[in-house]
Amino acid sequence: MDLDGKVTIITGAGSGIGAACAQAFAAKGAKVAVVDINKEQAEAVAAEIGSKAYACDVGDEAAVNAMVKSAEADFGDVDILFNNAGIATGSDLMRTDIDVWQTQWNVNVMSHVYTTRAVFPKMIERGDGYLIQTASMAGYLTSQGMLPYAVTKHAVVGFAEWMSITYHDKGVRTSLLAPLGVATPMLDSIGGSFASNAAGPIKTAEEVAQMVIEGVEAEKFLILTDDIAHTWMGYKQTNIERWLSGMRRLQAKLDAAREGAK
Ligand SMILES: NC(=O)c1ccc[n+]([C@@H]2O[C@H](COP(=O)([O-])OP(=O)(O)OC[C@H]3O[C@@H](n4cnc5c(N)ncnc54)[C@H](O)[C@@H]3O)[C@@H](O)[C@H]2O)c1
Repeated sequence: MDLDGKVTIITGAGSGIGAACAQAFAAKGAKVAVVDINKEQAEAVAAEIGSKAYACDVGDEAAVNAMVKSAEADFGDVDILFNNAGIATGSDLMRTDIDVWQTQWNVNVMSHVYTTRAVFPKMIERGDGYLIQTASMAGYLTSQGMLPYAVTKHAVVGFAEWMSITYHDKGVRTSLLAPLGVATPMLDSIGGSFASNAAGPIKTAEEVAQMVIEGVEAEKFLILTDDIAHTWMGYKQTNIERWLSGMRRLQAKLDAAREGAK
């Protein structure tokens, strides 16, 4: 899809990957609605690109519907919906409270359902629209130490695949962004040692934004941020038992490093 002139909603656009994508999409001529729960950050990004900010908790359906209505009133019908907002709270099974699961489920998964339901009827009527969903490699290959994150990101992969299978040929195309480590506040919050041990090569948000642009222009479903991800996905697909053994060995190493650091 050519991005020039396209009305684009980007969620989680106040920081990290979303902010870099807002810049990159605007540079390509897209009209970007900068959406974030953090009003100040959204306003700062919107000011940089000469656009508008929308303070919205994407885990709240009523707030999402109101945000989409405002963005449509300001820019016109939505061409591109980029579901990028996400959180990485929680840790392992017994140390994660149920309300942490519920919040992460709302923000990482249900937000995609709410926003997509808000823009989809007009897209399918036109036979033209584009959905971009940010999952993570954690959604294909799991994530050491962060159970709710791994589970919710698998759900994002499932949602994106289902939409692509069902609606691509009817004009609503989908891309799935599944990054490895990206240098953003989120990566800082989950710990640098975790990142360097387990998350593979770290990219900048700007590099990822360029990959998203290229992926969407080519209308490619899967946007990976490093070739090593293909290799790791291949290991899982060709021999799940062997892949699980390798992941358990990596987990044991991380456990030992954490014990050593105490
Ligand atoms: N950084 C990484 O290494 C990495 C790797 C794989 C996937 N991802 C995914 O990329 C996406 C962007 O993450 P990032 O690394 O840029 O993180 P980030 O923390 O820099 O940005 C996330 C943004 O989402 C916003 N947000 C959080 N909850 C929200 C809510 N309820 N409603 C609206 N906005 C909300 C935050 O305010 C923040 O501005 C996330 O979905 C994340 O899971 C990140």
